[in-house]
Amino acid sequence: MSRVALVTGGTRGIGAAISIALKNSGYTVAANFAGNEEKAKAFEAETGIPVFKWDVSNYQACVDGIAAVEAALGPVEVLVNNAGITRDAMFHKMKPDQWNEVINTNLTGLFNMTHPVWTGMRDRSFGRVINISSINGQKGQMGQANYSAAKAGDLGFTKALAQEGAAKGITVNAICPGYIGTEMVRAIPEKVLNERIIPQIPVGRLGEPEEIARCVVFLASDEAGFITGSTISANGGQFFV
Ligand SMILES: NC(=O)c1ccc[n+]([C@@H]2O[C@H](COP(=O)([O-])OP(=O)(O)OC[C@H]3O[C@@H](n4cnc5c(N)ncnc54)[C@H](OP(=O)(O)O)[C@@H]3O)[C@@H](O)[C@H]2O)c1
Repeated sequence: MSRVALVTGGTRGIGAAISIALKNSGYTVAANFAGNEEKAKAFEAETGIPVFKWDVSNYQACVDGIAAVEAALGPVEVLVNNAGITRDAMFHKMKPDQWNEVINTNLTGLFNMTHPVWTGMRDRSFGRVINISSINGQKGQMGQANYSAAKAGDLGFTKALAQEGAAKGITVNAICPGYIGTEMVRAIPEKVLNERIIPQIPVGRLGEPEEIARCVVFLASDEAGFITGSTISANGGQFFV
C-alpha cells in the first residue's frame, strides 16, 4: 500500500508541483485548497489527484477536512504544510487584518494541520511533516513584517516539533524557497521583478516549482529518516544562513 500524502494549497503553484511529484513517486495524494474551485477542479481533472476544500486557518475545518481525507484514502503519513498567503504593506500602513490573516494562515495553519495528524503518526511510529517556509522568514523582507514573522515562526515550530517526533519515527523539516515563478510572485510588478528581484539572485532567474517539489519528495522518503529539524534553502544563492 502506498503512503498517503496530504498537501495544503496543493492545487496551484508550488503546492501543485509538490502534489504531482509525490503522486509520480508512488504516494496516494490529497490536495487541499481554500476557495479557488475552478483551479482545483481543473487540477483534479488533469492529474486525477482528489481535491478537498477547507481553510487551514480554521482548526475545526482542518479536523473535519483531515477526517474526510483519511476516510477516503487512509491515514495521513506525509503532511506538507504549503498553503500560504501574502498581504504586503509597509508596517506603518499595515492593518491588523493584514497581520492577522497572514499569521493565522501561514503560522497558525501549521498548528491546525499538524495537530490532528500528530497522534496518529506517533501511534504508527512513522510520519513526515514538511513545512514550506520562505527565504523571507530567514532574512526578513521590507513590506512583509507579517509574512516574515509567520515564516520565521514556521522554522521555530519545525525545530521544536522535530525534537518531539524524533523518538517516534516522525521527521519534521522545512524548506525555504527563494523567489519561485508562481502566481504569488508573478503578481509582483514586472518592473520590480526585473530591476530589483532577479538581479539579487546569483543564478539569474526565478526558481521553478518543480525544484521545490523535488526537495519535498526527498524529505518525505524513508531514506531521509536521519534528517529532522533541518531547513533546506532553495533560493538560487540569494541568501546563505
Ligand atoms: N512563490 C514563491 O516565490 C514563494 C517563495 C517562498 C515561499 N513560498 C511559499 O510557498 C507556498 C506556496 O506558494 P505559491 O507561490 O505556490 O502560492 P500560490 O500560487 O498563491 O498558491 C497558494 C495555494 O495555497 C492555498 N491557500 C491559500 N490560503 C489557504 C487557506 N487559508 N487554506 C487552504 N489553502 C490555502 C491556495 O488555495 P486556492 O487556490 O483555493 O486559493 C493555493 O492552492 C506558500 O506557503 C508561500 O508562502 C512561495
